[in-house]
Amino acid sequence: MNILVIGSGGREHALLWALQKSRQLKLFCAPGNAGTAQIAECVRVSATDVYNLAQFAEEKRIDLTVVGSEAPLAAGIVDEFERRNLAIAGPRRDAARLESSKAFSKDFMARNNIPTARYRIADSLDEAQTILSSGEFGGFDSSVVIKADGLAAGKGVVVARSRSEALTAANEIMEGGLVGADAARRIVIEEALDGREASLLLFSDGKDYALMPSARDHKRVGENDTGPNTGGMGAITDASVLDEETLRRVVRDVVEPTLEGARAEGFPFRGILFIGLMLTSDGPRVLEYNVRFGDPEAQAILVRLESDLVNIFEAVAHGGLSRVPVRWFDSSSACVVLASRGYPAKPETGATIEGLEHAAQHEGVRIFHAGTTRSQSGEWLTAGGRVLGITATAQTLELALNRCYEAAKDIHWDGMHYRRDIGKFGRQMS
Ligand code: AMP
Ligand code: GLY
Repeated sequence: MNILVIGSGGREHALLWALQKSRQLKLFCAPGNAGTAQIAECVRVSATDVYNLAQFAEEKRIDLTVVGSEAPLAAGIVDEFERRNLAIAGPRRDAARLESSKAFSKDFMARNNIPTARYRIADSLDEAQTILSSGEFGGFDSSVVIKADGLAAGKGVVVARSRSEALTAANEIMEGGLVGADAARRIVIEEALDGREASLLLFSDGKDYALMPSARDHKRVGENDTGPNTGGMGAITDASVLDEETLRRVVRDVVEPTLEGARAEGFPFRGILFIGLMLTSDGPRVLEYNVRFGDPEAQAILVRLESDLVNIFEAVAHGGLSRVPVRWFDSSSACVVLASRGYPAKPETGATIEGLEHAAQHEGVRIFHAGTTRSQSGEWLTAGGRVLGITATAQTLELALNRCYEAAKDIHWDGMHYRRDIGKFGRQMS
């Protein structure tokens, strides 16, 4: 069986690893990295080059394609593959709007009574100013959240601490070039919520769904949630992230209305749905939807998958998910990201990585590559901001974290840094 995974990060390395765990496959990864090259053939086509990816899949007789990141989904890769009768596990472009347009996703939640922060949409700076001055989101000193409508690679959300900070953020998004022009045409202005964050991911075939273990990531670059936002410096899965009562509530109030709403509105959701939640004192609220695995959530989640991922993705693509086992090891897991000096603003690359082979020998530990390459002589070199994801499972979260940090001690390169507080609760907003 030939499988193509699209993307080049730690998430895609983890997907490939999990796919080949239970059977012999011929794996391809477009474009991949030096870690994925150890288990898959790297294909020199960019993840957003939908036409050439479809050509490749036809030529190589790919039986199933799995998409890691959001950009190809928003660009309509699933629509193009389906038009050519190529099997692909992911949402079509219309369903991908749950992530690719924050205005669309907020209106969708409002139509379907899904609990989320109060919001308004502004199509111009003038409009944003009027909304912010109206007092609807509090006075001069109130926190308010400004979000670019479109995809912005994590840069499109500003939690502003005052009205003037909010206006500056609106200005930077709409006119200052903070995000791409397409993403910046509209903004969402949103009530700031207080609480602990949690992520709940699920597989869906458009009809049935299967939940994954709940996860939490750590977005800020520095310990104690300081410094700029990143793609994610680490993630954990643990039963404590969502207790049983809260999980039941999220399923009833969010998961089912979301999937039913999507079906009723004519875009049944097929793929991976990632629900970002804030657990407020008034109950769980949706912060955002993503229409794909998170990175590094995927690494922490997939090491706990007991069932065959190929069967699951085939069911996502073709239907029949309710007949496929989706079982998870009864454990906890953690992923600690090792990053390059300068990440996220301006990461340095080209440093020699030492100790990889040694670190991989720790019990319960898997190392997924995000930004690596190899020199002519076979040395491992850094090639991006996030370089490696040290991932471990264990009976308790504490033990999983210890395993990650023990393995991290074996790895070294000039400028390497990582957070020592992954798995500790994030700062509460005040
Ligand atoms: P999003 O991409 O919408 O999830 O936003 C990215 C991050 O911004 C979230 O993970 C939260 O940490 C923060 N955030 C987003 N919306 C809100 C909100 N309404 N209140 C407080 N924090 C938020
Ligand atoms: N780690 C957050 C994301 O992948 O969106």
